[in-house]
Amino acid sequence: MQFHVEWHDRLGSTNTCLRDLFSEDSDLTSGTVIAAREQTAGRGRSGRKWQAAPNTNLCFSLYIGTACELAAVPSLTMAAALAVTEYLNKDKITAAPKWPNDVLVGDKKICGILSERVENNGRAGIIVGIGLNVNMTTEEAAAIDRPATSMLIETGNAFGISPTLEALLPLLDRWISQWENGGFSALRESWTQKSGPIGKPLTVHDGGIKKTGTLAGYGENGELLLKTPNGIETIWSGDVS
Ligand code: BTN
Repeated sequence: MQFHVEWHDRLGSTNTCLRDLFSEDSDLTSGTVIAAREQTAGRGRSGRKWQAAPNTNLCFSLYIGTACELAAVPSLTMAAALAVTEYLNKDKITAAPKWPNDVLVGDKKICGILSERVENNGRAGIIVGIGLNVNMTTEEAAAIDRPATSMLIETGNAFGISPTLEALLPLLDRWISQWENGGFSALRESWTQKSGPIGKPLTVHDGGIKKTGTLAGYGENGELLLKTPNGIETIWSGDVS
């Protein structure tokens, strides 16, 4: 994939910016990347806010023109999580992907991904928004309501934000091509190996509903299969602990 990267000093949300570009021009080039040194209205999953101090973390969104079904969106997010995991592992950070859209170091979040399907004028695509904690300090991490970490905290080294994006893009390219060619089947082995063993105990919170069981595996689109006393339940979204 050819990437076209556009950096902004300050904008609301890179996902929203790409979404607006797509609604103005449904022929938007696949591989368009919007990155921001500061987001004033960064969005997370389930309507949550994404916090990142200015010039500190990597916040960007990538547009992929693809006519894939809505059901295939979660597995694209998983491909992106595998790319980020590989990037961090290369820097000796023991990160692992967590279903459906996070990358963790231990139980601390280092990266969150928000994928959104867009459709306009008969054209469709997916916006993959990635927030990677690069130079977040321990004080900033402590101010977040969930356990968080960063590349700085894990290694003691500060990293350039734009070089981090440049280094990550080729990995995203490779994992996304793998997804384009084979869907979740092409990711299944790596995902299962990196994200933890079948049979591990899980609790899934989706809205107000809490389900407990063990990991039975993943469906053909990467949906989580939870083994419960009532049988196997298919989970498409939620927070897993
Ligand atoms: C989550 O973990 O809830 C997903 C967080 C996704 C954050 C990124 S930062 C770049 C892009 N722009 C946004 O507004 N959100 C995503």
